[in-house]
Amino acid sequence: MELVVVGLGHVGVITAASLARMGNSVIGVDIDPERVNSLNASIPPFYEPGLGELLSLLGKEGRARFAVLDQVDGITAPVVFICVGTPSQPNGAADLTYVRDTIKWVREKAQVPITIVMKSTVPPGTGRKLVSQYFGAENDSFAYVSNPEFLREGRAIEDWFQPDRIVIGGEKPDAVELVAGLFRGIKAPLIRTDTTSAELIKYAANAFLATKISFINEIANLCEKLGGDVTDVAHAVGIDPRIGADFLQAGIGYGGSCFPKDVRALDFLATSNGHSFELLRAVINVNNRQRLLPVCKIRERLCSLQGKVVAILGLAFKPNTDDVREAPALDIIRLLLDEGAKVQAYDPIANINASRILPSSVVYADSASEALTGAHAVVICTEWGEFSLLDWRGLFNRMEPPRAVIDGRNCLEGQALLRLGFDYMGIGRR
Ligand code: UGA
Repeated sequence: MELVVVGLGHVGVITAASLARMGNSVIGVDIDPERVNSLNASIPPFYEPGLGELLSLLGKEGRARFAVLDQVDGITAPVVFICVGTPSQPNGAADLTYVRDTIKWVREKAQVPITIVMKSTVPPGTGRKLVSQYFGAENDSFAYVSNPEFLREGRAIEDWFQPDRIVIGGEKPDAVELVAGLFRGIKAPLIRTDTTSAELIKYAANAFLATKISFINEIANLCEKLGGDVTDVAHAVGIDPRIGADFLQAGIGYGGSCFPKDVRALDFLATSNGHSFELLRAVINVNNRQRLLPVCKIRERLCSLQGKVVAILGLAFKPNTDDVREAPALDIIRLLLDEGAKVQAYDPIANINASRILPSSVVYADSASEALTGAHAVVICTEWGEFSLLDWRGLFNRMEPPRAVIDGRNCLEGQALLRLGFDYMGIGRR
């Protein structure tokens, strides 16, 4: 089928490339000419495992092409996916400007009846409002379907082809079936529901996962007070299938372009509908506090941070991505700089993205060992595999006393580091 995908960020590029891989003829559209050119040359505009290979394959087959929005004359595809950003406003509400602009653009350019598929994360209730604002009467030839995405950065292609579920929400059965047909061949439970429930499923899933993280982080904090070990606790608790082992990794909290934004937006939505969602507030507060713990731990050890050198290992919000949006490392670095520390940072692939937003005084290293050279303390902010494989024995003499190692992701062998003479501290570890 001929398809259009508007918005070529993480979600849009994976959506366009995957739909093309499934045999559709896809045009991806964005306002950024540089991004469009890069994609037409099969060069991924961000790091995502497997994406380069997929784009090269599609380039050869000619099934996906990319165009700048204002160069599109008319739309002849029966289905248009909207994958534009819905950033946070200062009050936490989702900003729907790009979504609205895209719907107006689709209506203006449409040469055939179109089903608009919303993949952007929009607050529950948005779809119904958009339909009443932009879609006119019942017999309007346009249709609106909510099809939330559950892709994880770093595993997005795998998540597209092997999802846990596919959710399609809409009020027009024909449109729902048209979109369901696009996922034929993918083995996963397909949930057909109304638009608002589909939107809620997305927020509820992200908010629940964020709740799991904040919950285990509170248990980690309690472990520190009582002398327990959160890794043992999480392991044993997670064995119960009613709880599940995933998202029980304690540390410096969640970041990224999704959890922080979506949890805040759900909180705002609840408040603006007369419901005070206390649990969600606690999740947000715990997460905000958690990312500051490494700085408190360094303060305890070094007293004053003035003139001290602190190495930061990991800038991305999680491994296997170069995305630094709302990464805990950024807040930690800003606080360290405020207190007079010198920061030497290293990430295997996110140095450049971080350098675009952090103060220019941060020094970027080409390797972990370079970042650690002369450092009094180091904070592990992202659990990149290479950090647990480091030769810590060899690194001992590169660092300065007290050689504090703050393992913000509990990914190192704490006992081994203590034996080597490092002042190792995990989060909630004995
Ligand atoms: C998340 C969801 O997992 C996806 O299902 C969803 O589609 C996506 O948001 C979205 O809304 O678009 P993502 O942001 O790529 O995906 O990252 P996750 O792997 O979920 O991790 C989010 C954050 O939680 C990271 O900072 C990670 O370090 C942190 N985390 C995760 C923990 O602190 N502990 C854990 O046990 C798991």
